Amino acid sequence: MHMKRLRTTRVIGVGFCATLLVVTMAGAQMPLPEAKPPDGATLFKQQCATCHTTNLSDAVRQGPSLFGIVGKSAGKADGFRYSTGFAKADFVWDEASLDAYLANPQATIPGSIMAYRQPKAETRAAIIAYLKELN
Ligand code: HEC
Repeated sequence: MHMKRLRTTRVIGVGFCATLLVVTMAGAQMPLPEAKPPDGATLFKQQCATCHTTNLSDAVRQGPSLFGIVGKSAGKADGFRYSTGFAKADFVWDEASLDAYLANPQATIPGSIMAYRQPKAETRAAIIAYLKELN
């Protein structure tokens, strides 16, 4: 009984290795095209749009509209109730401040309640490039 189970395991193991080899060889013959990173608009849809609109006509979501956010004073979207953290924010959003905020909102604006962090610099850059188009 014990021996039989061992043998079965080995047969499955060999089959798995053979499959891997075939997959590897196919890969060597047909190089895959370089994976393109998603563009800013797609990233925004995936990572921001549940909480932010990009216009002033749709109902406000969990966060304020980001229409025209680059060059706009922080914490000043009409009709949005910011956390107390934003009450002290006295600056205009630019690429550098947006980059810092998306990397770590609470470190940039203490008390901010935005539940999002993006550790990848290139992802933040692509999203910020898209935000600039909203002006
Ligand atoms: C889970 C919801 C959520 C997600 C996801 C989210 N945000 Fe936010 N965001 C908020 C909230 C809530 C605030 C207001 C924070 C406060 O009042 O402290 C905010 C505030 C902001 C502000 C400041 C706006 C102003 O008027 O000063 C910017 C800029 C911003 N978010 C950009 C983004 C971007 C870009 C993304 C995607 C990469 C994103 N957010 C993802 C909820 C979210």
